[in-house]
Amino acid sequence: MRKGEKGILFTILIFVIAFTLINSYRKGQDASPDKGIPFYSTAPEALQEEGGELVRQLKCRDCHTLWGVRNAMQSVPSPALDGIGSLRDETWLFDYLSAEDPKQILPSRLKAEYQMPSFAYLPVEERRLLAKFLASLKVKDWYLEEVKKVQYEKLTGKDYQGGLENE
Ligand code: HEC
Repeated sequence: MRKGEKGILFTILIFVIAFTLINSYRKGQDASPDKGIPFYSTAPEALQEEGGELVRQLKCRDCHTLWGVRNAMQSVPSPALDGIGSLRDETWLFDYLSAEDPKQILPSRLKAEYQMPSFAYLPVEERRLLAKFLASLKVKDWYLEEVKKVQYEKLTGKDYQGGLENE
């Protein structure tokens, strides 16, 4: 097994353990039914496969979590892609991936080597496919506020005050 693969397996393991613990804690807290995993994709299977393949080839997981998984050897504090389609629409995502300088669209607080790279060099069909795939990654309403909070904190390094940053 290669180093990277071990890292991925390790991350999955941690995720599963954390989820089990959180769930059993929640069940202990109240008698409400188990809500399950909040993330889902609205994409047809073919798009999910092609999108997932591009994410793998382009190593997006070196910096981003997707389906709770990322490269454990990397520690860039970037926002997760899980639920991103509930925060950004397909047009925004396409423009962002197509930008020569993504910082112009979304400012970065990180060192240059950790910042979102430009994917403007990709063929336009691949950028479209990626944008469509990302836009399909939704989060259920009951978990949306949590996703917004984590995204805000990752992007700004500040505490989230509950939606006030949009006003
Ligand atoms: C070198 C690390 C790195 C890689 C590789 C990377 N990203 Fe990013 N990405 C970031 C960072 C960091 C941000 C937050 C903005 C910033 O600081 O540049 C970001 C932001 C984003 C956002 C916007 C998130 C939001 O909250 O609105 C999307 C979407 C995104 N990346 C998708 C991708 C995809 C898809 C890939 C692979 C094709 C990818 N990224 C590869 C580091 C990376």
